[in-house]
Amino acid sequence: MANLDSDAFVFFGATGDLAYQQIFPALQALIQHRQFNMPIIGVALPPWTLDQFKARARESLEKHGGVDEKAFATLAARLQYVSGDYASPQTFANLKTALGGACRPLFYLAIPPALFATVAKGLAGAECDKGGRVVVEKPFGRDLASAQRLSQTLSEYFPEPAIFRIDHYLGKEPVQNLLYFRFANSFLEPIWNRDNIDSVQVTMAETKGVEGRGALYEEVGAIRDVVQNHLLEVVALLTMQAPVARDLDAQRNEKQRAFRAMRPLVPGDVVRGQFRGYRDEANVAPDSRVETFAALKLYIDTWRWAGVPFYIRTGKRLPITATEVYVQFKRPPQRVFDTIPESERNYVRFRLSPNVSISIGARSKLPGEAMVGKQVELVVHQTLGDQMLPYERLLGDAIRGDQSLFVREDSVESAWTVVEPVLGDATPVHEYEPNTWGPSEADSILAGGVWHDPCEDPDDPC
Ligand code: BG6
Repeated sequence: MANLDSDAFVFFGATGDLAYQQIFPALQALIQHRQFNMPIIGVALPPWTLDQFKARARESLEKHGGVDEKAFATLAARLQYVSGDYASPQTFANLKTALGGACRPLFYLAIPPALFATVAKGLAGAECDKGGRVVVEKPFGRDLASAQRLSQTLSEYFPEPAIFRIDHYLGKEPVQNLLYFRFANSFLEPIWNRDNIDSVQVTMAETKGVEGRGALYEEVGAIRDVVQNHLLEVVALLTMQAPVARDLDAQRNEKQRAFRAMRPLVPGDVVRGQFRGYRDEANVAPDSRVETFAALKLYIDTWRWAGVPFYIRTGKRLPITATEVYVQFKRPPQRVFDTIPESERNYVRFRLSPNVSISIGARSKLPGEAMVGKQVELVVHQTLGDQMLPYERLLGDAIRGDQSLFVREDSVESAWTVVEPVLGDATPVHEYEPNTWGPSEADSILAGGVWHDPCEDPDDPC
């Protein structure tokens, strides 16, 4: 069979933050772990020399994971830099020359979506698009209508099998493991439904603020930044049916059915917050109403999940950095022994980052005559070792043309349909102190329950 792997890697926005934080480390890792011998071409506006560009690559690696001198030598030898305005045909003529004989390049658009059309048009003008693949970064639009327009624009130049919408959460090992753990075992699925599960919480907490990304963050806010994409993807993986086959689209088909079943949010089920000090950040409006925190309740309208609330919570400047899924089971139907506190139920806890574990909460009898017990946690799985970088995994897949872990157009649109009713000023924004778990108003959507705050050390539940 013909090898249809990409034969050149081109990234637009090569001097930007994403390249600095993610793409150079992923390229080094691809060189370390795979046969990655193709031209690597950065494209951006600054009139840098190739040496300046290589220095930027080295600095990026020093800051993000470390330099492996052998792999870096290979990376540096393959690097090329094309500087120019994306609106100028000359930029693309120069890119064409840099591509040499490559006929299946991968174009990574690490640039704002407003520039996608300009770049796609430039590629087509220089006939660089033929046989190429394009990787686009989130956000895929700002709402449903703009996402549809974006897809329409891209489809004028690239067919859907050549469009790779990247959501780096899907490249994370523990996120993949949600699906594996559910469907590679037989004990979970029979109880993974409304008959046994009381509620599910998904928390993505970050201690960091907006870190110089004020201008960008003002355009998005927490719901667009991480709920519409990363966190709804996690919910889809937790709730979807088993794929019916192993082929490329079987998993994405089931995931799409899960997205479609998510009920659009209503303002009463959403609490937005903003940390005190956000308005003092560079490029943030002094009266900004953009949320840096969101807590919300989502329902999934299927027979399996009817009536089970999915509580999603995310925020910047929270007390710890961790992403965790907490699936709480119903109480035993009868109290046979001691009185069990309301908060001590059976649960499955998936710690997705920064460390990874899956654990089950259960009660066990304390030694002694009395039939009283305590809550214990059984750790089912834990990984502390090296994990593949999400961008390494996803870029490697895109080079091979494997779209399984990329987001399909219909799922992007379904996810926008879920969040659209609560975007912007649909709900008030409440101030919260940095280093707290957000505004107290967030408790109001729990209907008397409690938030299960992830702990710093998942081995030592707090
Ligand atoms: C990005 C968001 O998509 O994900 C950031 O834009 C967020 O605001 C980041 O900090 C979190 O990703 P990770 O992999 O660090 O958990």
